Amino acid sequence: MKYLSKEIIKNKRVLLRCDFNVPVKDNIITDDIRITKSFKTINYLLDNNNKVILLSHFGRVKKEEDKVNNSLYIVYEYLKKYYDIEFIKDPNDLSNIDGCDKKIFLVENTRFTDVPEKRESVNDLNLAKYWSNYADVFVIDAFGSLHRIHTSTAGLSKYLDTYLGFLVEDEIKNLKPLLNNIDLVIMGGAKADDKIKIIERLINKCHYLIITGGILNTFLKVMGYNIGNSLVSNDEEVLSKVEELLNKYQDKILYSDKFIAKRDNDNIIVSLKEIKDNDIIYDNIIELDNIINNSKVIFLNGTCGMCESDDYKEGTIKLLNTLASSHNDVYVGGGDTASFVKLFGLESKFKFVSSGGGATLEYISDGNLEALKYIEENSIN
Ligand code: 3PG
Repeated sequence: MKYLSKEIIKNKRVLLRCDFNVPVKDNIITDDIRITKSFKTINYLLDNNNKVILLSHFGRVKKEEDKVNNSLYIVYEYLKKYYDIEFIKDPNDLSNIDGCDKKIFLVENTRFTDVPEKRESVNDLNLAKYWSNYADVFVIDAFGSLHRIHTSTAGLSKYLDTYLGFLVEDEIKNLKPLLNNIDLVIMGGAKADDKIKIIERLINKCHYLIITGGILNTFLKVMGYNIGNSLVSNDEEVLSKVEELLNKYQDKILYSDKFIAKRDNDNIIVSLKEIKDNDIIYDNIIELDNIINNSKVIFLNGTCGMCESDDYKEGTIKLLNTLASSHNDVYVGGGDTASFVKLFGLESKFKFVSSGGGATLEYISDGNLEALKYIEENSIN
């Protein structure tokens, strides 16, 4: 694997895959960490007189209508404040790049090529071959997407000299210590279905696992508690995996018994035994400070509740403050969690805030990232 930091790439045409899949609310980018963390690679390439063609996905695009809300134009407008950049409207047609004297381009959402026939997300090599006509070098800097074998994250390496960018190198360097040593994992977020496989892998590596957020509801349901009308998984496979985990690791799995629930139109604080049939749990306030303070290496993924709403962010705020004042090595991964850390200005209190979500979880659970593996096995260098 070749690292950009160890090479000099000059006067080339470079396809640079970033992860600009940033959160947007009311037409405003609410967290730009993924973009700003990409600047180092972009600037290095521009300073060395390369022509830079930026590729990224943005959201999920399964049908034509999905394109409306998933255009990268908003990222183009953001980048325009920093660069004299051109927007390429169709990822299937890069021909405008050739005739243009700009030095930097942003290509529209790579996943637009998935409609009507899947291309990007099935690692279509014809697409890789086509894109590679416009470049001499491929730099992969989309750490957040390295768990996907797509044309723009993997396939391009079959046709172009391939390098890992500064962001990817930095993430791997900072997350690597977690591969051998995690005392406490705190796992939150909305849905158990998305996290269960990762929990199965991570639980072997840590001393304790605190479950919180929406995924806790599923654990509570399996334990036989009434969780009212709260969000829960009904997937039989997920439920049986949760049951297995609870049986096998009952001493490791911890949760807190204090919730903010909506009852009728009021928000009330309840303990588990007080939850009634129509209550909805929206927040979990973790009161396990002793475990947190005594865990030297902590990994946090996911929030304790629906913290995008002012009414349900108390749990997440309390947890972040406890972590920030614990003086332990706290690593944070996952889009929502990282955004929240930033919003509260707590970044400097933590050992590392990763720009990845699913990719960070995949990496720390077994040290493997599918796209990196693909590049290692297939790249032409
Ligand atoms: C992320 O936000 O985790 C990455 O950008 C990957 O997005 P995806 O889950 O839609 O592939």
